[in-house]
Amino acid sequence: MRALVWHGKEDIRCDTVTDPEIEHPRDAIVKVTSCAICGSDLHLFHNFIPAMMPGDIMGHEMMGEVVEVGSGVNGHLKKGDRVVVPFTIICGECNQCRRGNFSVCERTNRNKNLADKVFGHTTAGLFGYTHLTGGYPGGQAEYVRVPFADATHIKVPDSLTDEQVLFLGDIFPTGWQAAVQCDIEPTDTVAIWGCGPVGQMAIRSAILLGAKQVIAIDCLPERLGMAEAGGAITINFDDDSVVERLNDLTEGKGPEKCIDCIGMEAHVTPSAPDTVLDRAKQMMMMESDRPHVLRQMIYVCRPGGIISIPGVYSGLADKIPLGQLMNKGLTIRTGQTHVNRWTDDLLRRIEEGQIDPSFVITHTVSLEDGPEMYRVFRDKQDNCIKVVLKP
Ligand SMILES: NC(=O)c1ccc[n+]([C@@H]2O[C@H](COP(=O)([O-])OP(=O)(O)OC[C@H]3O[C@@H](n4cnc5c(N)ncnc54)[C@H](O)[C@@H]3O)[C@@H](O)[C@H]2O)c1
Ligand SMILES: [Zn+2]
Ligand SMILES: [Zn+2]
Repeated sequence: MRALVWHGKEDIRCDTVTDPEIEHPRDAIVKVTSCAICGSDLHLFHNFIPAMMPGDIMGHEMMGEVVEVGSGVNGHLKKGDRVVVPFTIICGECNQCRRGNFSVCERTNRNKNLADKVFGHTTAGLFGYTHLTGGYPGGQAEYVRVPFADATHIKVPDSLTDEQVLFLGDIFPTGWQAAVQCDIEPTDTVAIWGCGPVGQMAIRSAILLGAKQVIAIDCLPERLGMAEAGGAITINFDDDSVVERLNDLTEGKGPEKCIDCIGMEAHVTPSAPDTVLDRAKQMMMMESDRPHVLRQMIYVCRPGGIISIPGVYSGLADKIPLGQLMNKGLTIRTGQTHVNRWTDDLLRRIEEGQIDPSFVITHTVSLEDGPEMYRVFRDKQDNCIKVVLKP
């Protein structure tokens, strides 16, 4: 089959690889009808997250048709079912899965020993996301093997298009969880850093959850335009001081809730000297992440507020202002998304027309065009916001 394969830093190719096969009774094989490139894939593209190996198949946002099931799937899934595949592989039975903490499932990471060493405890297996999370082949491919398929799936009705439901596997619940974690009240201002696909979903989610005002921050006009269309007030950090504008918009008090939809790769700009220092340290392997946005959120967040971090961080970050964090009594909430925790609610909201996540798609291309689209998405060329691939 054809698949997008990681060969090294900034080197992803569309290769012919071996078709996946059922390896375990709980497996299913899904023929991929649509998949997407996620901002998280860019961290791998840049080789910022360790434990990728040449030959690894990329992709963790995909959907399609079940073409084969193992003997242990036990009727939960059958040939012909149309499914979205969540990016988190879940067993559905361990203590964490029973609590709905799916992204920290205790059983699905087949490299548990490595994860135990690096993180202190294992986290769930993830598709196409390094050997630290199991080294499972991803879904930017014609077919994908879904381990623990009896639990790891989202059935979707034929009445909705691929584009409407594809993002149920990653960015939609990610934006949603980021907003839910803020315990939004009708008097709250929610400030959202980053208007990429995750930021866009967080903006719509915060509005659906009833925030008084949502403020979106980025430097890309097309992304700010989409944020505004979704109901946000916008700040272009190239033109304005983020801290001053946020204080102006909140009568000097600062936003109650702050969401970091950027993570470890905040833009490096001389106007924010800490980003230059972070970049230099990153290059010298003295720091793995660039936590500029985290610093800014802690500084500007209203005392007693909540900081929600869906943006991915990989390792160690310096100069986190713990004094401000502690003395202002802020709460930090974060995590890889517990995708299946939100599925029923979000699918219902799509069916009812409360939201149509396909608004974020700007490019739909073939799998063969995937390697080129990694660059276009990374460089924000051609007003690119979200890429969908059709294998
Ligand atoms: N927690 C999860 O389960 C989960 C799931 C999906 C994605 N993610 C993570 O979410 C993050 C965003 O993903 P995406 O697909 O939207 O990526 P993206 O790269 O398309 O978007 C990031 C945006 O942040 C903006 N940005 C950079 N520096 C900024 C700054 N200082 N202030 C304001 N904006 C700034 C960029 O211009 C860009 O628009 C990534 O870190 C990704 O890995 C996490
Ligand atoms: Zn993702
Ligand atoms: Zn589990």
